[in-house]
Amino acid sequence: MRKDTVTPTDREARLLTRRAGRTPVYVYSREALRACVERVRAASVPGADLYYSLKANPHPGVVQTLATLVDGFDVCSLAELETALNAGMTARKVLFTGPAKSAGEAAAALAAGVMVTVESPRQATLFAAATDELGVTGRAVVRLNTPYPGRTPGADPSQNQFGVAKEDLAEVVDLLRASSLSVAGLQLFWGSQYADADIILAARKAMEEQARACVERFALQVEFVSLGGGIAMPWCDADPEVDWAGLAAAGGAATEGDAADRLPLVCEYGRSIVGPAGSLLTTVLDTKTVGGRRYVFVDAGINHVFIASRLIAGAGRGEPRVRLVDARPDARPGPAWVVGPLCSQLDVLAEGIALPEVEVGDLLLIEGVGAYGPTFSPSGFLSRDKVREIVF
Ligand SMILES: Cc1ncc(COP(=O)(O)O)c(C=O)c1O
Repeated sequence: MRKDTVTPTDREARLLTRRAGRTPVYVYSREALRACVERVRAASVPGADLYYSLKANPHPGVVQTLATLVDGFDVCSLAELETALNAGMTARKVLFTGPAKSAGEAAAALAAGVMVTVESPRQATLFAAATDELGVTGRAVVRLNTPYPGRTPGADPSQNQFGVAKEDLAEVVDLLRASSLSVAGLQLFWGSQYADADIILAARKAMEEQARACVERFALQVEFVSLGGGIAMPWCDADPEVDWAGLAAAGGAATEGDAADRLPLVCEYGRSIVGPAGSLLTTVLDTKTVGGRRYVFVDAGINHVFIASRLIAGAGRGEPRVRLVDARPDARPGPAWVVGPLCSQLDVLAEGIALPEVEVGDLLLIEGVGAYGPTFSPSGFLSRDKVREIVF
């Protein structure tokens, strides 16, 4: 097991499978969620509120557990909004994000009293009209467009479609000022899956500077600035571990300036909170050797764990961490191709990994896949059963 992942013991895995009644089943550990939140908080911007992004894992049991551990939620759909509110999070601490909300989503978010991100003049107009129609006031968070830094030192930044373009900013501010929405905050999300502390710290600093310039230019009185998150979920064997120590050590040096002069800050994290806290349990259905390759067929496919698909993992990305539950003590690992039961050549979960001999009915555990699991997978493909999910 890697240092950055918390997985069930063999005994827990066996009992959880019986509790679920069948495999495949995702199992999320409350204890691990707590440990992950603590670790992310220590690595976050000191003093910043910690928001959990439901897009990473909206399972109600996970969200309920996190409602007591984090300061707010970021939601991206009406279903996520309901999950967040049902979990007991106060509406004032829920942020409805996304680059293009529909009129229905705008009205629902404002009726619920949550904050909404605004990403264009047209979206500002949409929210203004919705407040008028509903007879309510609202709290807008203006997302500023910002390039995403490269993930490794020296790599190029990438452009993206999110946030208000620099040239549209004055118009958005004017529209909001003329509306029943306050400019409650600014959001500067600068990307995902970063492991290098220097890159993360530099991004936070650059975002805080960009936010300060915007606040000064428009004399805004914001309640907070969201500086993004970005911390990675390493789950492939080749992924670098996050520099947790480097981030924690940076402490107050992450951004410069007098603490009293600092804007109240928020950071948003998804994968780094739930990724390491979840595993997928799957049963061996068959084995065979073709062209010298040992194939192990399991009952989980890319319709349940799309993140393992070659479409996402890509060549050379590394392989998921797969463990045989209750491996016999004398078992010698050999190369195996772990594949799902779908009739698609894409249904490959792990290539050439070291795995002991397995038999039909054996249980395999894929570690560190608690984020972007079932809701990120093409679950409708072949109309097969949905994967189960339980929290323990
Ligand atoms: C605005 C926003 N906040 C938070 C997140 C969560 O990111 P992560 O899972 O990388 O922590 C995302 C991811 O796309 C996002 O777009």
